Amino acid sequence: MQRLSQKEAGAYFTPDPVVSTLLRWAVRDESDRLLDPSCGDGRFIAGHRNSVGIEQDMDTLGTAMARAPWALVHEGDFFAWAAETAERFDCAAGNPPFIRYQSFKGDIRARALGLCARLGAEFTGLTSSWAPFLVATAGLLKPGGRMAFVVPAEIGHAPYAAPLLDYLVEHFATVHVVAVREKLFPDLSEDCWLLFADGHGGKTNEIRFSVLNRFAPSARPPRQCIRVSVREWRSAWKRRLRPFLVADDARDLYRHVADQADTRRFGELASIGIG
Ligand SMILES: C[S@@+](CC[C@H](N)C(=O)[O-])C[C@H]1O[C@@H](n2cnc3c(N)ncnc32)[C@H](O)[C@@H]1O
Repeated sequence: MQRLSQKEAGAYFTPDPVVSTLLRWAVRDESDRLLDPSCGDGRFIAGHRNSVGIEQDMDTLGTAMARAPWALVHEGDFFAWAAETAERFDCAAGNPPFIRYQSFKGDIRARALGLCARLGAEFTGLTSSWAPFLVATAGLLKPGGRMAFVVPAEIGHAPYAAPLLDYLVEHFATVHVVAVREKLFPDLSEDCWLLFADGHGGKTNEIRFSVLNRFAPSARPPRQCIRVSVREWRSAWKRRLRPFLVADDARDLYRHVADQADTRRFGELASIGIG
């Protein structure tokens, strides 16, 4: 396979305290079968004896095999493997590649979107790779299974990511998104949050949402959370979680003003540019 740059492959590895926090929650028994769908240098699969990793980059894969010699490590495209495997997992954890739609293309994207559509999640061509990665991973969990992942903060506002949350609330008993204000990856421009989904095969009508100023290692997601009704998330907030970063009274005031018949959006009065 052709060598990709670090950015093209989305190859940014997760700090150890984040790895152990996600694993401590996801793995509940030593017999649990763990999947990391994009295992990189193996730091998640090295944290549990009964683990399986997939990695498309041969060199990185070699590091993963040396680090977790007990693990089953497959080389290649996760989506191709996920479409074929009959294996099902108790838990999954990791950090999927964040490859933007401009680079997430060709056969891999066609396979990814096709697999997600078969699972019931319809992504547009504007999706970044990580969202289909998580739907395809969820599709490999056993009933009652769980998954814990690093996700870009775009999960809170990007329209392309909404089909992921729609899929998760229809397929898990609890879905918890943890926003982290201080950078999880100091060298990356991308802000990262955490996602915990438990009870595969269940359903929920709320998304739990916690906001941390900075990440601190823990064995579970924060107890303190806002319970965002899925109905409200869909209708009032256009499938965005980001409004829940602000205080309740500020959000209520915004809603009140936005709902007035004579309120006009800024974009109707002036043009807006980013940058
Ligand atoms: C963000 S890194 C995460 C690695 C590791 N899980 C960690 O957190 O340290 C993503 C990894 O996904 C790999 N990758 C990208 N696209 C892939 C694909 N379609 N199938 C399998 N692995 C892929 C990259 O080579 C990279 O090693």
